[in-house]
Amino acid sequence: MTDSVKVPQTARRHFLKGFIGIISGAAILSVGAVAQVFAYFFGSKITKPEKVKFLKTSIERMQAVTSQNELALERVENDYILVSQYNDLSKTSGIYFIDYTMKPALAFLGDNDLPNLLSAKCTHLGCTVGNEVNNGTILCPCHISYFNVQTGVPNAGSPAKLPLPKLNWVIKDKQGKILTTCTDDGKITGVMDKKLLQDSAVYISKV
Ligand code: FES
Repeated sequence: MTDSVKVPQTARRHFLKGFIGIISGAAILSVGAVAQVFAYFFGSKITKPEKVKFLKTSIERMQAVTSQNELALERVENDYILVSQYNDLSKTSGIYFIDYTMKPALAFLGDNDLPNLLSAKCTHLGCTVGNEVNNGTILCPCHISYFNVQTGVPNAGSPAKLPLPKLNWVIKDKQGKILTTCTDDGKITGVMDKKLLQDSAVYISKV
């Protein structure tokens, strides 16, 4: 990517961050106004601790929305999103991340010592699947569906009938050069020797 592309993207990012800040600030002010209207009409019915609790809860919710918007912005702006260092991937415990559709996903080390990225949104009713591997499966605790961690396919008898979708990924070296790619349909090209991937990082890819 050339500098002539980076500068406008950075400026746009700052602008959008500032815009989100303005919206959040306005929302915080509006919460204050709502609290004052509340106090006007209900007066002594609201105690000071209750008012403090109400405002803190409102601010926490707005901060959560702001964080979510920042994640969405990052995904709109970037063709690659960092998931994990290659060395941090595990065959027994998945790393949660947010995919390009803003849904939860999990990153494991596959049996082939390459990344294994799956949606963590249960295909039954959408709960988030657990990240611990037992007997080669991960569990959705909501209505007890077990999914094969390598394929995403649910066990027979599980309420979920469809597999957890696999996600594409790329591995980049420290200089940002792409070493290995995996498409949605599982086609892997590039470096596959784990010794050569030790200092690399795993990303999801928009394309
Ligand atoms: S939502 Fe996962 S089993 Fe029902």
